[in-house]
Amino acid sequence: MEKIYITQDIAKEAKELLEKEYTVVIGKNLAEDELCEIIGEYDGIITRSQTRITKKVIEAADNLKVIGRAGVGIDGIDLEAATRRGITVVNTPESNTIAACEHAIALMLSVTRCIPQAHQSIQEGRWDRKSFTGIQLLDKTVGIIGVGRVGSNVAKRLQAFNMRTIGYDPYITEERAKELGVELVDLDTLLGESDYITLHTPLTEETRGMIGAAEIAKMKDGVRLINAARGAIVDVKALAEALASGKVAAAGIDVWASEPLLPENNPFITMTNVALTPHIGASTKEAQAGVATDVALGVRQVLHGEPVATA
Ligand code: MLT
Repeated sequence: MEKIYITQDIAKEAKELLEKEYTVVIGKNLAEDELCEIIGEYDGIITRSQTRITKKVIEAADNLKVIGRAGVGIDGIDLEAATRRGITVVNTPESNTIAACEHAIALMLSVTRCIPQAHQSIQEGRWDRKSFTGIQLLDKTVGIIGVGRVGSNVAKRLQAFNMRTIGYDPYITEERAKELGVELVDLDTLLGESDYITLHTPLTEETRGMIGAAEIAKMKDGVRLINAARGAIVDVKALAEALASGKVAAAGIDVWASEPLLPENNPFITMTNVALTPHIGASTKEAQAGVATDVALGVRQVLHGEPVATA
């Protein structure tokens, strides 16, 4: 019987679907060396973003035929090494779109109305109404970097708040942008005109470090920045400096260049103008059940030798 390793953070739907045909082992999120030790036994592996499938892991994967990513981002998988070994990579681009979109909006509202700080004041027994004056979204401009699945859903919802939605995305057409009610602009225009900037691109060589000190300098004073995409898109040191100076009024951040985030890698730890979450954008019951089912179906198709949409 073929064997599949599933990391413990994948919803039970994946296990239920696959154990009818395969030996399924539910295991931990393993570090590279630990994974190298066990991967040789498996025909398939299913992970979330915390488990990285590096070149070294792939070289140790003598029987592996498929890597299933229960989520959309494949930046933690060495695609080139997998392709070279004939290992198929499948992801689930659809099922967690709305969860990610809603979390970005939750962060946006949090940093607009000082929700984490106000909450903390109440829990500490303080009654402070003066320190938490926010702003309104009404009539503000939001710049959406990446107007794909998540970005376009963010646009749709923010239009209901009567925000002007502008977008930077070299991969969508004017026609599509028009359908979405998003004004397509170049990056500098977006940086200069937005009251809010929200990131919705994958992490690629093109987007790594895309928002650094130079880009922040081009932003409006008092801009609010939301990142529920990938940590390494933003230079956090530059962002921390801009938050300290007030250039950036507030930031909502769900994703980190190195995860799990260690306190020593978190420059925002004592800051009060931030809302920080531990990469929970896709963590809804619906999204996790959906990605677990989708990834299990994809993995099964590969193991059956059926055609499949690859990542
Ligand atoms: C994704 O890439 O789908 C999300 O970031 C969620 C995740 O990695 O678990």
